Amino acid sequence: MKADDLKKSALMLMLWLPVAVAAQKFPELAPTPPMGWNSWNTFGVHIDENLIKEMSGALISSGMLEAGFNYIVIDDGWESMSRDAHGALIPDPARFPSGMKALGDYLHSKGFKFGIHNCAGTKTCSGFPGGRGHEFEDARTYASWGVDFLKYDWCEHGTANAEETYKTMSDALHAAGRPIVFSICEWGNNKPWLWGPKIAQLWRTTGDITDCYDCQDVYAMGWKYILKLQMGLEPYAGPEHWNDPDMLEVGNAGLSLAESRSHFSLWCMLAAPLMAGNDARKMPDEIRGILTNRELIAVDQDPLGKEGFQFMEHPGKEIWAKELSAGSWAVCFFNNSESTVRIRVKWENLSFLKGVYGIRDLWQKESLGTTAKDYTGDLAPHDVTVFRLAPVREQP
Ligand code: GLA
Repeated sequence: MKADDLKKSALMLMLWLPVAVAAQKFPELAPTPPMGWNSWNTFGVHIDENLIKEMSGALISSGMLEAGFNYIVIDDGWESMSRDAHGALIPDPARFPSGMKALGDYLHSKGFKFGIHNCAGTKTCSGFPGGRGHEFEDARTYASWGVDFLKYDWCEHGTANAEETYKTMSDALHAAGRPIVFSICEWGNNKPWLWGPKIAQLWRTTGDITDCYDCQDVYAMGWKYILKLQMGLEPYAGPEHWNDPDMLEVGNAGLSLAESRSHFSLWCMLAAPLMAGNDARKMPDEIRGILTNRELIAVDQDPLGKEGFQFMEHPGKEIWAKELSAGSWAVCFFNNSESTVRIRVKWENLSFLKGVYGIRDLWQKESLGTTAKDYTGDLAPHDVTVFRLAPVREQP
């Protein structure tokens, strides 16, 4: 090769390299964990535009939208069985006759953001067209419909590499120009917490949740089982990049009231995205009370963005702690046993605390004095007590 040619090739390599490796992600879309409602946990593929509109009405009248649940995500089942003649994605004409742009406009007019689901593989898990090989045209379609949130699944991925495949979709969303939250849903198979932060706002850490307390099989796990799998992932979460232990089952048939309350509390302790998955149209007052507990939501949404951790586990008792802004802490006592337990807390034993704090009970919604005095209380099976501790005096 002549010297001139060598120079030319070196120059071309320099021009090419930065383009090939740069990851692009829209800034400031998820400073705190996204909140909303998703159709999957209760309705599966049995969804249509009337259901979505009714749900938006229920989220408004129940106070959930005001409490922060502002994304409505339409999960698997919205598509036609095939793309149109030009290769574009189309909604099922019988169930979404007005089309996705009109539904997005409707949701926006009611104060919501509009989320949709698809899959990085050739088909979604329910057999509808997936996005593989169509990423850039699909991203333009979503942008043209006014989509604000894309949950991207991992069925039928063949031999595809997860990191590369999700990066392609992230680049496609960026190229389409509309800021869209990108929610990776590859079930934690390829450690997305290591590569997700550069390209997405959130990533699932496990397989699917179901409405039981502690069951476990490959495709469906109870929230308590999922909770354990979060241990060790705390350092990977923060503003604009969240671990996602899956959507909420709060209010669904397989959980007792105490189990719904604990599930919600611990998801808030984890700084988890809070995607309700119940039928908000038929929500008993107790469930509404759980989902709209503003003080718990403030723990989840704390601007410091720290994921909580398990501080201690004793038979029957777990203590979870989450650092909050302005020197505060949230502390959650969880009874994971089948009988009532007595909790005795000597606050100085919680070694992360420094000094004296005022105590607020976030479920009783009352202030309880300070950590200068020990706390004693009873906890029913599978139930929680959550305290917010605000510093009143620094330790000398
Ligand atoms: C996967 C996801 C679920 C849901 C279904 C839809 O199982 O993990 O959350 O989106 O696909 O088919």
